[in-house]
Amino acid sequence: MKITFLLPCCIAKFIEDMIMNRRKRKRVLLWSSVIAMVVVVLAVMTVREVLLVSSFLCTTSDVINNHITALCADVGQDKDQKLCQELCVKDVASRVTCHTLHFNKAAVFTLTSQDSSKKVVKSVIDAAEREVAVDGIQDELDDLYWNQKFEQQHIPSKEDFFTLVTTYVNNFVGSEVSWEVISKLVNYSHLYSTATESPANHQSFGKLIQDHEFLTSVVFEELHLFPKITGICGSYYAVEYFEPLTRNPMQPFTMTWRNRLWKALDILKYIGQLETVGREPIHLCDVKHDHFGWDKGDRLAFLDLDSVLYESSLLKMMENTPYCSNHEDCSYFDCKSRCHHRTNRCEMERSNTNLQVICDKIFLGNTDSLLSLYGLLVSSERTEDLEEALELCRTNRGMTVDNMVDILSRASNALLF
Ligand SMILES: Nc1ncnc2c1ncn2[C@@H]1O[C@H](COP(=O)(O)OP(=O)(O)O)[C@@H](O)[C@H]1O
Ligand SMILES: [Mg+2]
Repeated sequence: MKITFLLPCCIAKFIEDMIMNRRKRKRVLLWSSVIAMVVVVLAVMTVREVLLVSSFLCTTSDVINNHITALCADVGQDKDQKLCQELCVKDVASRVTCHTLHFNKAAVFTLTSQDSSKKVVKSVIDAAEREVAVDGIQDELDDLYWNQKFEQQHIPSKEDFFTLVTTYVNNFVGSEVSWEVISKLVNYSHLYSTATESPANHQSFGKLIQDHEFLTSVVFEELHLFPKITGICGSYYAVEYFEPLTRNPMQPFTMTWRNRLWKALDILKYIGQLETVGREPIHLCDVKHDHFGWDKGDRLAFLDLDSVLYESSLLKMMENTPYCSNHEDCSYFDCKSRCHHRTNRCEMERSNTNLQVICDKIFLGNTDSLLSLYGLLVSSERTEDLEEALELCRTNRGMTVDNMVDILSRASNALLF
């Protein structure tokens, strides 16, 4: 049967010609391979670009070209800031390791010092880009001193400036913050330490103070729960280094089962501390495997503070949501609340607990997305008791941290004999 009967005539004619004519066939094959190669190269470049922009991949050259070079041009000869001195040197590229999986901050990278100690450098998130569930907050933000345009900026006296900062920080925390915290905060930027004030320094300070993670690290420092700020440069800040639980939760854990149980116990005890050490319970609203890290002394810290909140701040967010039609409207990432269907307002209570989220996402590896993640406590070595306890922990808000600690301690002790 002739091909012409099956395909539109010109294509069929072309294929027939090709079959009959060897030279033509060769030329067509050559051109098709060239076109196929170009298409593949373009596709690979596009995918790489998408992965880079979304932080699934990262390159040191991106950190250097898009962050450090611009920062060093801006801060010029800011010899005052130790972090600037470390960043603005020729061989910085050899000491930078970029981080993948940072979806909020434009830059997150590890800087290794000459003495091999590490710190993590992060860029601030602009207040306008921060994902908040509170409507109308932007207008309030525009009025703040540190958001006013450069040209109209009048630098206040030291006393007035400290009053502005104190009001802002008290409002952020929801209670009165000590004088030590305020002066530590202002001292990072070396403001009011010389005869004349630099407007650029004031602007950078404005960006830092409005960054939720930066301010949370400073005001919660005394609780010893999070990495400490070790320095600033312009609107970038450095924090202590903690080795994350895993760099890629899509890859299986390489630790022994016993080590996995110990890590899980550390996480549980940490969750217990969040309930008690602060003025009120602290909520982790963006729980991920790579957000838990350990320092050299085996101290655990939660590493991404963008969505770490005191209970009253979380409830204020729910209260400020003017209208809801489903429960999702009342959720702030992992911190869920319910929508009251008669009033269309969010309930003033979190409907799940930190513990439930940890059991669900970290221990069991469950996720709402299509990605499949490895659970820290999913293994063939797991006992049935533990499996049942984890399921209960995930679904039942009555399960307590102490109950789970008991169950995991028993599982880990059983391995000693
Ligand atoms: N102090 C730190 N020590 C070591 N690694 C860190 C530290 N802070 C963040 N990281 C790593 O970098 C990743 C991205 O940082 P993160 O603050 O979570 O950025 P984003 O807010 O954009 O998600 C984290 O998931 C974590 O693994
Ligand atoms: Mg993160």
